[in-house]
Amino acid sequence: MRSTAVNSPELLDPESHGLLEAFCGHLSGVLGLDIPRRRWPEVARAVRVAAREQGCPDVPGCIERMLSQGIDPETMDVIIHHLTVGETYFFRDPAAFAALRDHILPPLIRSRGSGPAEGRRLRIWSAGCSTGEEAYSIAIALQECVPDWERWHITLLATDVNRAALAIARQGVYRDWSFRTTSPEFRARHFQRLPDGHYRIDERLKAMVSFLPLNLAEDAYPAVGTNTTAMDVIFCRNVLMYLQPEHVQRAVARLQRSLCEGGWLMVSAVEAGLAATPGLVCERLPGVLLFRKGEAAVPPAARRSSVSKGGNPPPAAIPRTGRPFRGGEIVRPPEREAAQAPADADSMRVTARTLANAGRLDDALAWCERALAQQPLDAVGAYLRGSILLEQGRMEEAVAAFRRSLYFEPGLAVAQFALGNALAAQGRDAQAAKHYRHALTGLRALPPGQALPEADDLPAGQLVRMIEAILGMESAA
Ligand SMILES: C[S@@+](CC[C@H](N)C(=O)[O-])C[C@H]1O[C@@H](n2cnc3c(N)ncnc32)[C@H](O)[C@@H]1O
Repeated sequence: MRSTAVNSPELLDPESHGLLEAFCGHLSGVLGLDIPRRRWPEVARAVRVAAREQGCPDVPGCIERMLSQGIDPETMDVIIHHLTVGETYFFRDPAAFAALRDHILPPLIRSRGSGPAEGRRLRIWSAGCSTGEEAYSIAIALQECVPDWERWHITLLATDVNRAALAIARQGVYRDWSFRTTSPEFRARHFQRLPDGHYRIDERLKAMVSFLPLNLAEDAYPAVGTNTTAMDVIFCRNVLMYLQPEHVQRAVARLQRSLCEGGWLMVSAVEAGLAATPGLVCERLPGVLLFRKGEAAVPPAARRSSVSKGGNPPPAAIPRTGRPFRGGEIVRPPEREAAQAPADADSMRVTARTLANAGRLDDALAWCERALAQQPLDAVGAYLRGSILLEQGRMEEAVAAFRRSLYFEPGLAVAQFALGNALAAQGRDAQAAKHYRHALTGLRALPPGQALPEADDLPAGQLVRMIEAILGMESAA
């Protein structure tokens, strides 16, 4: 009989170690985290805490149940809290933020700021944002660099697998320790001191960031449904180093696909060797290595070199493969697209979605509109058109497209969600909340694991968790 008490100092009796090993293997698969043997006691401790909260005295029995029936979200939160390292602070690694301010943003602002109003958009993602200091540092950098930032359509997405960290990020209240490398003037400029000695971020900065749960080990990105496509810059710093090698490779390939052409991936200096992947070119700036989406022309000698995956910085340019692959996804060159042009509306929609996921928004819109010309009453086509317009920052048109989609199919939950996003981006919060709730009603009627084809097969349960997080519902905090 297993008799390990929940509060036993040994955590698990020796014969249950095999169970713990299996459980750690399962967790590694789900979260992508590297869980070496020395960390197994932490997992046992986390399960013990979760078991205590659930009034279950039998820890091995609890593990067996989770292995056979899956891990409920509350227990997963406890485990994630114990296993992830959330260390972060404002303007961590000044060289990276200097690169953003001085090298990445100015050309984007120049080229997009001089064109039509709908082109004035920037899309930045802090992936693995922890308690939000990185995302708010980006928001501050944007306010400093983009003179008329309020007239731009700025998407600043911040995601993490740790929902407790996201809840802190959404509050935007920080202790002294988060300001360990910034000046008192910086703090006074952007934060309000509270009576308890903590500091609250300026409301306008807070409103710039959307914090959402997203597990980088899952394939929920790039996807229009998670708003993770066509990114100009992705910060994924001090995250890859905690993942297993095969998850690192998959995550980097997906992050590459989440970038628009010419977009930037920022990792920390120690992770530079992990970010080497075809379709990302490494650029060296003072104190920092950046990765840019694209394929560099390189001299023949360099073409023969192989891409290092070790701890050393990668080569400055990654050889062209000559194959029509980008991040593992087939992308046809434009001239072949015309020759192999899809004739039916369904194929046109697929082409539009593929192009949108690759960041080619104008082409995607053109294909989507061709599909709609054939099937003008198609709710999914109208939804896709709205999603592309949303990413282009054409808010009013996106709202109209989503409304049109819902007119044809009022139960299309992804369109309700997207309409909520478009309205929220315009500050129409009450209306947005109404549509988020409609989306929740539809999604909760589905099995949590059901794939949503209109949202790149995102599981319904994951979208439920995202919307709950947006609405600040208790279960998501
Ligand atoms: C050390 S913090 C990095 C915070 C911030 N990026 C920085 O550099 O200051 C690492 C974060 O990665 C998150 N993380 C770990 N595994 C993850 C996964 N599979 N998906 C998403 N986030 C993950 C953790 O929850 C944690 O908040």
